Amino acid sequence: MSVILVTGASRGIGRAIVKRFAREHHHVIACARGRQGLDALAAEVPGVECLACDVRDAAAVDALANAVSGRHGAVDLLVNNAGAFQPGSIAGEADGVLEAMLQANLFGAYRLTRRLLPAMVARRRGMVLNVCSTASIAAYPNGGSYSIAKHALYGFTRNLREEMKPHGVRVVALLPGATHTDSWAGVPLPPERFMPAEDVAEMAWAAWNLSPRSVVEDILLRPQRGDIGEADFQ
Ligand SMILES: NC(=O)c1ccc[n+]([C@@H]2O[C@H](COP(=O)([O-])OP(=O)(O)OC[C@H]3O[C@@H](n4cnc5c(N)ncnc54)[C@H](OP(=O)(O)O)[C@@H]3O)[C@@H](O)[C@H]2O)c1
Repeated sequence: MSVILVTGASRGIGRAIVKRFAREHHHVIACARGRQGLDALAAEVPGVECLACDVRDAAAVDALANAVSGRHGAVDLLVNNAGAFQPGSIAGEADGVLEAMLQANLFGAYRLTRRLLPAMVARRRGMVLNVCSTASIAAYPNGGSYSIAKHALYGFTRNLREEMKPHGVRVVALLPGATHTDSWAGVPLPPERFMPAEDVAEMAWAAWNLSPRSVVEDILLRPQRGDIGEADFQ
């Protein structure tokens, strides 16, 4: 049984990843800010260990890393999934949005990874999977600071991959397109236009399952009909 830590785990993609790994009887630690969401997850997925943490808060990230390391020694798989999405343009968005997007999508993942990495390196095994986005590799008119932050997360992932090559630690970038989660709440499009979160989780599971001799560096997946764009709203 492996130890899997998933941030942003109470809803959406994170929740689907928790359920996919728990189904295979791994020990899954789920982190999110809200206690209510974690309690609901714990009721639905027996055995999941829930720890509240806001990844934007450096002290909370350190406390999470200490709690997990204290209880389990090391994690086998860290899934940096917590993030926030705010559409906007560079010219039009308010001051402070870039800082907020970097904090939610990059700084927590960077810090938590750095805290948990030494134990992986010492054991010469482990995997870090960062939930990036198609917005990590594509520029689009209302990408704004979200896209900047996701580009940065992908840059962090690629650099870590190079760094970890000699250490037996696999590093994976997961780049999903539009996935049917609360991130799209209120958008007037049918669920069929999006990927189900379970499909994204399935790819994380597939990447995890390869032998330690192989790594899936990038997982890029999109809705069958392609990215959501202006044409969808006409
Ligand atoms: N949905 C998409 O189309 C899509 C596409 C590409 C990439 N992504 C990326 O996939 C990841 C998950 O997105 P999603 O759509 O599944 O989101 P979601 O349905 O809105 O769920 C977000 C989850 O993260 C938790 N969370 C939010 N902020 C957090 C924080 N600061 N610290 C810890 N937990 C936090 C939320 O719980 P609490 O509110 O209780 O904290 C919730 O469990 C994000 O990084 C997102 O950028 C999503």
